Amino acid sequence: MNPETVQQEGLAAVAAAPDTAALEQVRIALLGRRAPLVQALRELGTLPPEERGPRGKVLNEVRQALEAALDARESELRAAELEQRLRDDRVDVTLPGKRVERGHAHLIEQTGREILDVLIGLGYRIADGPEIDSTYRNFDALNTAVTHPSRQPSDTYYIDDHTVLRTHTSPMQIRTMMSEPPPVYMATMGRCYRRDTPDATHTAMFTQIEGLAVDEGLSLANLKGTLLAFAREMFGPDREVRLRPHFFPFTEPSVEVDVSCFNCARDGSPCRVCKGEGWVEILGAGMVDPNVFGHVGYDAERWTGYAWGMGVERIAGLRHAVPDIRWLWENDLRLMEQFG
Ligand code: PHE
Repeated sequence: MNPETVQQEGLAAVAAAPDTAALEQVRIALLGRRAPLVQALRELGTLPPEERGPRGKVLNEVRQALEAALDARESELRAAELEQRLRDDRVDVTLPGKRVERGHAHLIEQTGREILDVLIGLGYRIADGPEIDSTYRNFDALNTAVTHPSRQPSDTYYIDDHTVLRTHTSPMQIRTMMSEPPPVYMATMGRCYRRDTPDATHTAMFTQIEGLAVDEGLSLANLKGTLLAFAREMFGPDREVRLRPHFFPFTEPSVEVDVSCFNCARDGSPCRVCKGEGWVEILGAGMVDPNVFGHVGYDAERWTGYAWGMGVERIAGLRHAVPDIRWLWENDLRLMEQFG
């Protein structure tokens, strides 16, 4: 072990250590238990007495030199590292903050909730039901003959012979009336399915809201009053409604309901909402057919009722003049973000 070489190489290693972790390794190599210098110091005792003094002096000088260099380098590196950390951690309060994007309900959901809110205000209780239902509740109990075209597999998605993806929310009328006695004021919203070729006003999956009222003495006038109140709440206080004769198997009489156009002067000039008609169709409705009461065990002599069903996409599209309801399902953010 040559003390001079150990000192020279040791000082070089100390100077070359790039950070405090590396310096610690150098310290172990130079002054640790297994370092040659330390071993040499330990072996001093085995030397002849006259050699011990000079040798010990030299070795201790080397050790002191190395210790001093290590300590000096250590404070130098610590200072540099602190400096670096302070630089890295510096907060620039002038930088713009991180923006948290806030989502919002989809226009269909928003519109549906708004409609249900109006109906809650009119005294309706909200019910929820399955999208897969029996042909009995979707058709038979709703007085829809086995031969009715809407039952064809070309129009309806069948799970099996007795089970369908519901084609409307009307089976919820049956579920409600079968589970509770009258009077009933029920509204429900949900997805429905029909094998339609998609176009600007049809999609194979769509959202309906159904309303059902059963009580003593209800007439078409009550239906009209309810829908008028609803239309004014949704489309503006000056709206009028008109009922046009129609047909549904489960209501008698049945009507289609129009609301006076909220988008134009209604003077026949071109309008993208009513096409110059002055009226827009918003829903189908009618007085509950006594045959339906027969299926659910309600006394048709005592109780009368009305029901209606409306397309949520249609109402959302009309109110916002969205020309094609398929757009509501494409989830193009450029459209969706307009309804936050
Ligand atoms: N279920 C009908 C449809 O989907 C709408 C409707 C509901 C009509 C209730 C009358 C009464 O077209």
